[in-house]
Amino acid sequence: MFITFEGPDGSGKSTQLRRIIRVFERLKIPLLTTREPGGTEIGDQVREILMNMKNRSMKARTEILLFNAARAQLVETVLRPALAAGTIVISDRFADSTLAYQGYGHQTPLEPLRQLLAFATGNLVPDLTLLFDLPAEVGLRRRLSNHDEWNRMDDYDLPFHERVRGGYLALAAEAPRRWVTIDASGDADQVTRTVVRVMIDRGVLPADAGRIPVSEIA
Ligand code: TMP
Repeated sequence: MFITFEGPDGSGKSTQLRRIIRVFERLKIPLLTTREPGGTEIGDQVREILMNMKNRSMKARTEILLFNAARAQLVETVLRPALAAGTIVISDRFADSTLAYQGYGHQTPLEPLRQLLAFATGNLVPDLTLLFDLPAEVGLRRRLSNHDEWNRMDDYDLPFHERVRGGYLALAAEAPRRWVTIDASGDADQVTRTVVRVMIDRGVLPADAGRIPVSEIA
């Protein structure tokens, strides 16, 4: 089972992932988690190039190829082996981030991007994708108020981030069996309850997971 968490910047998906990891730990269910860009030694080096504010002159095509270079390394060395061993894998972002950010955000034609993604991932597609949806402006404001490190991607203008959000909603509408859209604009504990419920409904977690109080995993 390959699950991905997607959403605009500041959607809280990484916080939710930390909580979900605790649910798996409590229930003693093996889980591998990773994030993009990164998740491998090479991928983390590529992440540094992509996020560094010094690299503001980076072109969209350069950005696309770097994200996918990191992704190819992650797929071959981490994701495929774990999935082949039957481990549940959750990735904080995956190929859909490229469609949302570089496709919709930078207005790059989607078809060549899809071909590149097929090449980079060897056609690996998640079984389930949770979209943590919220207005772009709310997400960016959250990042500023949490004093999160402001990176080169955050620094794109608000219309870019609004296109990313719209892109995600379009991708989710195209493949409604794979995507579940969760309203991430409200209370984090409520979002956690929804994530656990979705995972129970999809057979990822057993029903017991619903009885763990959020206060114990937050
Ligand atoms: P994050 O660790 O906060 O999710 O930061 C990753 C940033 O990179 C975020 O702004 C989304 C962006 N991104 C892309 O633009 N394309 C991609 O393919 C991926 C994986 C991330």
